[in-house]
Amino acid sequence: MPAGRTPRQFFRPLAIGAPAPLREQPVRLERMIHFVPPQVEKMRAKVPDLIGQVDVVLGNLEDAIPIDQKEAARAGFITMARDNDFGDTGLWTRINCLNSPWALDDVVDIVSAVGDRLDVIMLPKVEGAWDIHYLDQLLAQLEARHGIGKPIGIHAILETAEGVSNVEDIAAASPRMHGISLGPADLAASRGMKTTRVGGGHPDYVVLADAEGETARASFQQDLWHYTTARMVDACATHGIKAFYGPFGDFSDPAACEAQFRNAFLQGCHGAWTLHPSQIAIAKKVYSPDAGEVAFARRILEAMPDGAGAVMIDGKMQDDATWKQAKVIVDLARLVARKDSEYAALYGL
Ligand code: GLV
Ligand code: MG
Repeated sequence: MPAGRTPRQFFRPLAIGAPAPLREQPVRLERMIHFVPPQVEKMRAKVPDLIGQVDVVLGNLEDAIPIDQKEAARAGFITMARDNDFGDTGLWTRINCLNSPWALDDVVDIVSAVGDRLDVIMLPKVEGAWDIHYLDQLLAQLEARHGIGKPIGIHAILETAEGVSNVEDIAAASPRMHGISLGPADLAASRGMKTTRVGGGHPDYVVLADAEGETARASFQQDLWHYTTARMVDACATHGIKAFYGPFGDFSDPAACEAQFRNAFLQGCHGAWTLHPSQIAIAKKVYSPDAGEVAFARRILEAMPDGAGAVMIDGKMQDDATWKQAKVIVDLARLVARKDSEYAALYGL
């Protein structure tokens, strides 16, 4: 017997009357997932403006929301979902983790009230496939009860050592899986890493140049998150879902935020979280491909109309593999151009 559900069962609804799971995730531009504390009325008032500026608006119910405001955040999210037309902009919520006293009501109340408006539930501190299976079943029951026609996606945060050990199983757990985000703050704590930062590098995580005959030895700071990002990207790409970098906590260091976002982008991530308004422009810049790269990628596609064979462009060899690389960049550029007229002009698309 197979360990998981059989291929035929995998795509059956988990409750009678629930919508059929999607075979492919919808193609959507998700360069930034912008966090809003929904209990704060002043912040909710900014949502209509935000909708035009970001790709995803997320109402956060978990960490950073004070314990005595958890219920207000849940109610505020429902208000925010009802009061706005999100159009093409995604509407997500980050619920509290499954072992908390709030998770069940977060899911039941929100899906009952605004399940037809909600695109994705972000689930924190996912340890293994069992967490996804639980939420998957519960969502199917609620979708059936409330006649919701479109399945709600699940997005897992990778932020425990056990979660990282099980990342492939998490990515494969359900057709409801939208993607996975790296959560560097909780992950650092879970692993016993010695940093107090939310993402980014650490000045002591370095490689030192050889000592031979040197007096001043150069040292090079390394990327603390490289290994985890790479594992997460491979797990997500294998299972046809999307990988994201999570939070960058030092709002006073936009250059380091940009570097962290860009490393993730180059490694295969689709977007990052934005916790502060100043990070929206950074994410937009990083996760919209560079105009020069787009122009070069278009030259590759034009030089190899059927995607096969080999040609030289500016002294660089192009073949079937670089054609596929070029297609990744041009497909993304088209998606960006459809949403952002300034990028459409920049790319000439
Ligand atoms: C995000 O939730 C993190 O812990 O980094
Ligand atoms: Mg966290």
